[in-house]
Formats: sequence, structure tokens, C-alpha cells
Amino acid sequence: MSVVEKAGANVLKAAFAKKDKKNKKDKKKRDAVDMTATRQMGEPEKIDLDFEAMSHHGFYNPQERSNQLALEMRAVKRRLLRRIGYLRSSGERQAFRTPGKQRNMILVTSTRAGEGKTFTAINLALSLALEDQIETLLIDADLSRPKIRERLGLPEAAGLHDRILDPKIDVESLGWRLIDAPLTILPEGARAERPTDLFATASAQDMWTELSTANPQRLVIIDAPPVLAATDAVMLAKYADEIVFVVEANSTPEAAVAAAVDELIDINPNVSLMLNRCQIGAGGAHYGSYEYYDRSEAASAPAGKPSSEG
Ligand SMILES: Nc1ncnc2c1ncn2[C@@H]1O[C@H](COP(=O)(O)OP(=O)(O)OP(=O)(O)O)[C@@H](O)[C@H]1O
Ligand SMILES: [Mg+2]
Repeated sequence: MSVVEKAGANVLKAAFAKKDKKNKKDKKKRDAVDMTATRQMGEPEKIDLDFEAMSHHGFYNPQERSNQLALEMRAVKRRLLRRIGYLRSSGERQAFRTPGKQRNMILVTSTRAGEGKTFTAINLALSLALEDQIETLLIDADLSRPKIRERLGLPEAAGLHDRILDPKIDVESLGWRLIDAPLTILPEGARAERPTDLFATASAQDMWTELSTANPQRLVIIDAPPVLAATDAVMLAKYADEIVFVVEANSTPEAAVAAAVDELIDINPNVSLMLNRCQIGAGGAHYGSYEYYDRSEAASAPAGKPSSEG
């Protein structure tokens, strides 16, 4: 284990030792959704992505299944899918069947800007959908600095913010659907002035519940803002079943990671650290790489999603 890896594990251990007792009894409880409103039904627009062009920027390419990134993402996915209960320890798939019982909302965040949240969220979603054929929804919930559209070469379009403002909009009709893979992309939508206030609204709460329960088999990957920039990520942590906390290896100060993780686990104890851009072997990884820590190494089994009443 490298010094950075040990530091990561120690941060989690210390944080959980402090907060685990208090948070252990958090119970999963989802608000009933008012389905009576008339929805504007439709389907997301069908698109193709230019994987070849994207791979030049380090993104997952379905044609390159044995490169460093594909191998690393595979290891990350396996552990993540086990943690949320989608994979048994034998490696066998155990699909979620009952709405409300699934643990399918995965929040990707980090301490501060530019540490690889969007990069990680996109690669995770691509890899789940294209390699494993798992139904996946990728959401840009970084309303202050949305980047998913730009990275994927997609135009401005209605999205998350529009649905929060108008609950009559059918969120499942927004965004884009890949032609050849079970991936839907929900963009940020209209420009938001104060995202934190938005995420605190009843409409946002209902929307996250809807997104989670609409399809029990679907994994939802949420690209969130950094924890120390504003309170958005902590607000979003309420709705997540699992939080992937990206740490930029050899760069993010340990004290800042500890402060951010402390804030998160006060709200949701299911936090896993993921090292981004860490060096593997003598030459280091070309596109960066991932090491994944989960709290089972520091504490016990994952707890349920906290009450959205918070
Ligand atoms: N492992 C990696 N290998 C190669 N490039 C990477 C890696 N991780 C991140 N990058 C690149 O670093 C830049 C910052 O990453 P990214 O936008 O994902 O960070 P972020 O945490 O989402 O930032 P923000 O807080 O501004 O949203 C991007 O250009 C991204 O493509
Ligand atoms: Mg980002």
C-alpha cells in the first residue's frame, strides 16, 4: 500500500470511528411521490457518441476493452456493484426487483474543483452501460459548473433544473438515449442561480425519488459539485445510496479530504474513497487510474439511505 493509499484508508477509518456510532441507525425511508400530476410524456432523443474522439481525452472506449482504463474501471465497478448489492460475492448478478428496495443512486463528488468527478462519472456510466449492458442514467447535477455535455459533445437542452422548476415535466423524457447501449444522459438544463436552494425543494426530493424508483434495475450516476465549494453535494448526499468520493492522488491535502468526508458522513455514511490519477508501477498509468476504498475496510456493512427529511 502506498503512502497515499494508507492516508486514504486512515482518513476513512478515523472519520467512521467518529461518526459511525451515530449514523448506524439511519433508516432508509423514501417519500411517497405524488404521481397524480399530469406529466408531459415523451422519450429522450436517440444519439450516437463519438467514442473514438472521446478516447483521445481519456474516456472509456468500447473498442479498447483491455487497456489500462478499462481494466481499472472493471475493478472499480465490481466493488461498487457488490457494495450496493447488485453483485453477489460470487460475482453473480442480483438484479433489484422491488421499487424502493434498490440501492441504485450513486453520487460522485470530491473535496474541491478539478479532481476528476466528471471524468469518473462519465467513465463509470459508459463502462456500466457499454461493457456490462446495465441500464444506466448519467445525470449532471453540478448546476454551477456543468461539464458532461461539453465532454460528450452534446448541445444545450432541457434537463435537471427544468424538471425541478416544473414538476409536470416528465424527467424520463429529457436528455439523450444512446442508440446502441442502455445509457441515458440527463443534462443540467436551464442555468441555475442558486443550486443549493433548488436541491432543498420538495420538487427536487420528489424527482430524486422518482428517478430511483422509476426502474429498480437502473443505476443512476450523479455527477455532483465538490463538497467544500458549497452545500449542494451535501444536500445531494441525502438522496444517494452510495457516494464515490474522488481523491486526486498526491494532490488533495489529507486534512481537506477529512473535512469533506466528515461533512458527508454526517448525512450519509455510505462513502467510498476513490483515488484518481494515482501512479501504478514504474511508468505510471497513461490515463490515470483508480484505487477504490470502501468503508467495509474501515467499518461494517453499508447502511441504508438516510431519510430524505434529513
Ligand atoms: N484519471 C484521469 N486521466 C486523465 N485525465 C483526467 C483524469 N481525471 C481527470 N482528468 C481530466 O482533468 C480535468 C478535470 O477533471 P474533471 O472535469 O473530471 O474534474 P471535476 O472534479 O469534475 O471538476 P469540477 O469540480 O470543475 O467539475 C478534465 O480535463 C479531465 O478530463
Ligand atoms: Mg465536474
